[in-house]
Order: sequence, then structure tokens, then C-alpha cells
Amino acid sequence: MAHRIGYLVGSLSSDSINRVLSKALVRLAPDGLELTEIPIRDLPLYNRDDEGDLAAPIVAFKQAVEQSDGLLFVSPEYNRSIPAPLKNAIDWGSRPWGQNSFARKPTGIIGASIGSIGTAVMQSSMRGVLSFLDAPQLNAPEAYITFDPEVYGDDGAVHDSSTEEFLRHYMEEYAAFVERVLSSALPGHVGDSDPDVMH
Ligand code: FNR
Repeated sequence: MAHRIGYLVGSLSSDSINRVLSKALVRLAPDGLELTEIPIRDLPLYNRDDEGDLAAPIVAFKQAVEQSDGLLFVSPEYNRSIPAPLKNAIDWGSRPWGQNSFARKPTGIIGASIGSIGTAVMQSSMRGVLSFLDAPQLNAPEAYITFDPEVYGDDGAVHDSSTEEFLRHYMEEYAAFVERVLSSALPGHVGDSDPDVMH
């Protein structure tokens, strides 16, 4: 059975290199994955005052995360950290307390940068956030992409065979990881594992 994977693009830019990367990943994903974008653009800025009556885009976002079998984050690095729109989406998805939408979701993190370390610091920050949210992560392979515009077509084509093979391998490893996590999942409560740390 195919697994439904929601992917989040951490950039709102119309010419985002990470959106281009996401198209390549969709093309190269193995047959067992169905990838659908979970948009983050329309989410308001997180405000605890608004938790009592969640706006429609927040409800839709949380439902999309919860209905996904796994999540893939495709994001730039901003100032050596997680871009604000993506962190904002994660903060909404983690709330209200006790309704953490990310719990137990198998996740992958990948990102493209124009810089030479290819979003490594953002990814390191993401790992801390996702650990706190009880979301298992693909540890290896890591994927730090220094974006070369010559290599990627806007439609997701990859014009370099070693890059194509690297990305295909990443998606195969991610698919195997999702399968491992889902097949070992025990029935029971999905939510916040330790109430003391979520207040
Ligand atoms: C950047 N960029 C960047 N690159 C990087 O490798 N490390 C960083 O810390 C930053 N910081 C940063 C902050 C801000 C506010 C911007 C706008 C950009 C450059 C970044 O890699 C480049 O703009 C990418 O094109 C961003 O990805 P998208 O938006 O094209 O997907």
C-alpha cells in the first residue's frame, strides 16, 4: 500500500530553489510514496491567544499533517536556522497542548542553499525541534544540497546523473525508513509523551 507523505517547503519565495528541489524529489520518489505538499503560506503568525478558536488554515494544516503517514521537510537555511514560516507552521502543528500533530510521524529533512554547507545548520536545528515533538527522523543519509541552477529544471528534472542518483537514493532510504517506523508502531495514545515539557 502506498504511503501518503506530506511535504513542507520552508520558503515562500516565488522562485524558491527548495521548491525546485521538492519537484525533483517528487519525481524521483519510489512508487510506494504518494507525495502531496502541505502548504504553510496562509498560516497566521502563531499567537497563543488564538488557540481557543483555531482559524481555518490552521485546522486544515493540522489535519493535513495528521492524515499523512510521514512528513518531508524541504527547506532553506535562514541565518543559520529554520526559516520563520516553517517554524511558525511547526509551532501551530504542535499546539494546542496535548494535540501535537507531529507525534510519531516519520520525518525526513533535506534542504538546498546557495552556500557551501547546504542547510546543515538549519537541519541540525530541525532535529532538535522534531525530537522534542516526538517525531522519528531519518538519520542517514543526510542531504545537504548546494544548489546549482544548471542541474535542476523548473519542472523537477535533474540534469546531472550523480545528483539524480543521490536524490533517488535519499528518497528510497526515506521510504524504507517510513516503512520501518509504520510497521513497528504500536497502537495506543498518540500525542504528547511528557506533559511536563509541553506546557
Ligand atoms: C539566506 N541564505 C542563507 N544561506 C545559507 O546557506 N545559510 C544561511 O544562513 C542563509 N541565510 C539567509 C537568510 C535570509 C533571510 C535569506 C533571504 C537568505 C541564502 C539562501 O541560501 C538563498 O536565499 C536560497 O535561495 C534560499 O532558498 P529558497 O528561498 O530559494 O528556497
